[in-house]
Amino acid sequence: MKVLLIGSGGREHALVLKLLESPLVDEIWCAPGNGGIAAVAHCVPIKVMDKEGMVNFAKETGIDFVVVAPDDPLAAGMVDAFEEAGIPSFGPRADAAVIEASKVFSKNLMKKYGIPTARYETFEDEEKAVAYLKEQNSYPAVIKADGLALGKGVIIAQDEAEALEAVHEMMSEGKFGASGRRVVIEEFLTGPEVSVLSFTDGHTIVPMISSKDHKRANDNDEGLNTGGMGTIAPNPYYTSQIAAECMEKIFIPTMNAMNAEGRTFKGCLYFGLMLTPNGPKVIEYNCRFGDPETQVVLPLLKTDLMEIMLAIYEDRLGELDIEFSKEAAACVVLASGGYPVSYKSGYEIHGLDDKGQAEGVTVYHAGTKLENGTFYTAGGRVLGVTAVGTDREDSLRKAYAAAEKITFEGVHYRHDIGKIK
Ligand code: AMP
Ligand code: GLY
Repeated sequence: MKVLLIGSGGREHALVLKLLESPLVDEIWCAPGNGGIAAVAHCVPIKVMDKEGMVNFAKETGIDFVVVAPDDPLAAGMVDAFEEAGIPSFGPRADAAVIEASKVFSKNLMKKYGIPTARYETFEDEEKAVAYLKEQNSYPAVIKADGLALGKGVIIAQDEAEALEAVHEMMSEGKFGASGRRVVIEEFLTGPEVSVLSFTDGHTIVPMISSKDHKRANDNDEGLNTGGMGTIAPNPYYTSQIAAECMEKIFIPTMNAMNAEGRTFKGCLYFGLMLTPNGPKVIEYNCRFGDPETQVVLPLLKTDLMEIMLAIYEDRLGELDIEFSKEAAACVVLASGGYPVSYKSGYEIHGLDDKGQAEGVTVYHAGTKLENGTFYTAGGRVLGVTAVGTDREDSLRKAYAAAEKITFEGVHYRHDIGKIK
C-alpha cells in the first residue's frame, strides 16, 4: 500500500515508523513532515489545511490510504474530503471531530449522557459569565475557550481578578479569536491525570495502554504549559480496576453517545482523565492521537497498526485482537532554549546518526529539518528521545542516558519525567 500521512510533529514520526513496520505498507508520503520523517519517508510540502491540495496529490500519486493526525484538519473536514474523493482514510469526520473542536459540545454531550466530568456552565455573554463567577465565588475556577487554541485555551484562575481578566480576554478582546467567543466555566478538580488513547470504529472501542503527559516546561511542574515535555506508559496510577470503571462509565458511553447524536466517531479517540476522589472524570476529549503520548504508546503496540486502521475503516475492529507489550516506555522531549515563549531555530543537532537516530533508543523528531545529511533544529519541541525497558525505571534510565548525548545550542529538557511523588 501507498500511505499518505498528514502532519509534521513527533507524533507523526512515531506513526510513520510504526506503519513502516507493517508488511502491508510499501511506501509512505508525509505532508508536510519534518527532518526525521524525511530520513525514512517522502516529505511533500502541502499545508495541513489544504484539503484540495491533499486530495489532488493523493490522486496523482495513487495513494491507497490516508492518515490524518492533527486536530485542525480533522475539524476542518479533511477526512470528509477524502471520503468524497473515494480514498480510504483514518480519522473522524468533521461532525465527530467536534468532540475536541468544541468544549461546549463535549461538555453538553457528557451532561446529556451522564458521563462523569467537572460541573460547568457555558456562556456566550461576558456579563453573564461575570455574574456567575461572582455568585459562585469559588476558586480556583477553570475557564476554557470553546474552540481549538493550541492547548492554551484553559486558564486556572486562582482568584476573582484572574478569572475576570481571563473571561474578558477571551470574550471581548478575542485572545483566541472565534475559539474564545464562547467559554466554559467549570469546577476545579484534583487528582492524578491519565491519558488514554483508544481505537474505535463506532461499534467497538479498544483502549490502548495508558500514559502520563508532563505539560509544564520545568521540573516539579513549574513554568508555563507546553505541548508536552515528556511521557511515560503505562501510567502508574491507572490500575486495572480503574480501567474497568472507565470502560463501563466513560469509554463505551462516549462511543454510544456519539452514535446516538448521529456523529459516529471513527479513528483515535483520546480521553484526558482525572482520577478524582469521586472517581475518574473526563477533563477533555481529543479527536486524534496525543503528542507526545503517541511516542510512548506506539512502541508498545504489538499488533500491526496498518491492519488496525484498515479494520476501523471497514467497521470490523471487533474482529482484531489488539495486543500491547508488558514493558514500559518513556519519552523525554528535548526543546529549544526559550520554548514555549520565544526561541531560535537552525542549530545543528549533534549525536544523531544518518537516519536521525541514537543508539539504544528511538528518537522521534518533532521540529527538525534535514539538509545535506545534517539535522538542524526547526521548532520549539525538537526531539522526543524514547526508550522501551522492562519497567518504568529501566525505560527512564535508557531515555535519559541517550538524551544526555544529544546536543544542540540552548537545548533544555525536564529531569523528572516519570517521577512519582
Ligand atoms: P485541557 O486543555 O482541557 O486538557 O486542559 C489543560 C490542563 O488544565 C489539563 O491537563 C489539566 O491539568 C487542567 N485542567 C483542565 N480542566 C481542569 C479542571 N476542571 N480542574 C482542574 N484542572 C483542570
Ligand atoms: N499531549 C496532549 C495532547 O496531545 O493534546
